[in-house]
Amino acid sequence: VRTRVLAEISAASDVAALDDIRVAALGKKGEVSLMMRGLGKMSPDEKKIMGPALNGLKADLNAAVDARKTDLENAALDAALASETMDMTLPVGKPNGTLHPVSQVMEEMAAIFSDMGFSVAEGPDIEDDFHNFTALNFPPGHPARDMHDTFFLEDGEKVLRTHTSPVQIRTMINQKPPIRIIAPGRTYRSDSDQTHTPMFHQVEGLVIDKGIHMGHLKGVLMDFVSAFFETDVDVQFRPHHFPFTEPSAEMDVRYERDGAAIKIGQGEKWMEILGCGMVHPNVLRACGLDPDEYQGFAFGMGVDRLAMLKYGMPDLRDMFASDTRWLSHYGFDP
Ligand code: PHE
Repeated sequence: VRTRVLAEISAASDVAALDDIRVAALGKKGEVSLMMRGLGKMSPDEKKIMGPALNGLKADLNAAVDARKTDLENAALDAALASETMDMTLPVGKPNGTLHPVSQVMEEMAAIFSDMGFSVAEGPDIEDDFHNFTALNFPPGHPARDMHDTFFLEDGEKVLRTHTSPVQIRTMINQKPPIRIIAPGRTYRSDSDQTHTPMFHQVEGLVIDKGIHMGHLKGVLMDFVSAFFETDVDVQFRPHHFPFTEPSAEMDVRYERDGAAIKIGQGEKWMEILGCGMVHPNVLRACGLDPDEYQGFAFGMGVDRLAMLKYGMPDLRDMFASDTRWLSHYGFDP
């Protein structure tokens, strides 16, 4: 029995087969167990010999099973390690990151304005009352302040900038004319629906020089929209009011619906895409410029809105939901 079972154990090809052999020999109804049960019918002299012999057999077989089991498990692990090795030099299967549509659109805008001689200026997201309102000709208590749905910081002094126009002030204070800048960045208003998110993006524009007039403003903006939408775009300027420009206007682009999509440039409808105007003399003065010497124009446009229009996105809130399916659908290969 010993020789045969030991031979079976060493021939077992896997852990399951080994277990079958163990049960057949050492299980409750196994060969060795039955032999041990036979001890009861033996004479005391036979027992004295057979008892220790069977116990030894049982112990030896158990030890052999355990040893074989360890060998089989090690062999299985080696095989797994050999077949599952990783080739660290293989290219990973994951897609590369993509540019967020807002970043892409800001880069497109910067490239278009750069061709027209504009450089990029920046300002802080956390602004003070002077730059966000007062220097922009919103006197304290002026009702136009209420229209901005401002987020105030707890210190009661600072605000999350409600527009990129404070960068106009910072630029005019720090830089001598001629000035030709755009200021892309984040802006904040307490507002949320399909076309408004509490954090959104604007691109501000500012030109200050001698003899600047509204014709320059119209020319720059008309050239911009045609370059941005990559087609001839019909625009209209509608009189409007901003405290920091006079006269002020909003610019609309012609569009039509094409099923769910929106086609820019043609059609019967007008969509507002930006505010603009000639820099108010009070703003020039607040920045130490003489309105009799220098004039200028400014504009501010919603980047997220322009991205939606250009790439046909239905809901502005999707932009900032961080859904990777949306991001990889609309993202741009950097
Ligand atoms: N700051 C204005 C807004 O956020 C836009 C604007 C900028 C208008 C510059 C005129 C000139 O609504």
